[in-house]
Amino acid sequence: MTMKIIHTVAELRAELAARGAAPAFVPTMGNLHDGHLALIKQARELVAGSASPVVASIFVNRLQFGPNEDFDTYPRTLERDAQLLAEAGCDVLFAPSEAELYPQPQGYKVVPPTELADILEGAFRPGFFTGVCTVVHKLFNLVQPRIAVFGKKDYQQLMIIRNMVIQMGLPIDIRGGETLRADDGLALSSRNGYLSAAERAEAVQLIGALRAVKVAVSAARVSSSLNLSAVAAIEAEAQGTLDACGWKTDYVMVRRQRDLLPATDAELAQGEPLVCLTASRLGKTRLIDNLEL
Ligand code: PAF
Repeated sequence: MTMKIIHTVAELRAELAARGAAPAFVPTMGNLHDGHLALIKQARELVAGSASPVVASIFVNRLQFGPNEDFDTYPRTLERDAQLLAEAGCDVLFAPSEAELYPQPQGYKVVPPTELADILEGAFRPGFFTGVCTVVHKLFNLVQPRIAVFGKKDYQQLMIIRNMVIQMGLPIDIRGGETLRADDGLALSSRNGYLSAAERAEAVQLIGALRAVKVAVSAARVSSSLNLSAVAAIEAEAQGTLDACGWKTDYVMVRRQRDLLPATDAELAQGEPLVCLTASRLGKTRLIDNLEL
């Protein structure tokens, strides 16, 4: 079946009403790569055997960009994206204009709690998660999905959206999709396209740093020496390696998987599930990545 491309809220509502079953939804900002397409395929599998359609959205959301960020230059490649989505098994693409999604200046916002949203990415991108939650909540209201799939590459975003859905009582099953990586390990990202050839070769250091953290944490676990000061030393070592290669690192942090807060000594000793998250700048490009430990 061919994919339907829809640009207005009215058409979206009519299309979804005609289909009758609540969709699986994959929100994106476009400029799609294989990581996004894997989320579409995951959504497709999650609704297999049911009448639920797979719906994707493409919308570059101004609310989540800071004043000095790349809103204006963010790549907009709708035609190519639509073709890739259709091939991946998407049924409906919702690609609204800014005037359609924000017909009035968006004064009502969904503000996530400080303890989740002002750490890590939020500490370096003020207001970012308010912008994300506001648009995702709005898209959820329009699409009314029963399932929504978000990439684990944006680990903090996934956690914040899971909590938003719980606290707002939205009947949506939030699923995380595994990060897809290039052969050398670089996590696929729309922003990789900003890298020069030399920077692209260097970019592999980011996952290299995360893998080094994983090795060091595993070794400390084996020798029962994983505590807060060991974690701090491992983080500092990783940041030092990146910075020595010319990166400007915002953070490399080992946190609890469940809420992204630091683990206590007791939790570290008891094998608390951890994740290392990083954001670092190579030239003008800011890349993020994470690895569960
Ligand atoms: O992850 C993204 O691409 C965006 O943050 C999202 C979830 C589509 C909201 O604009």
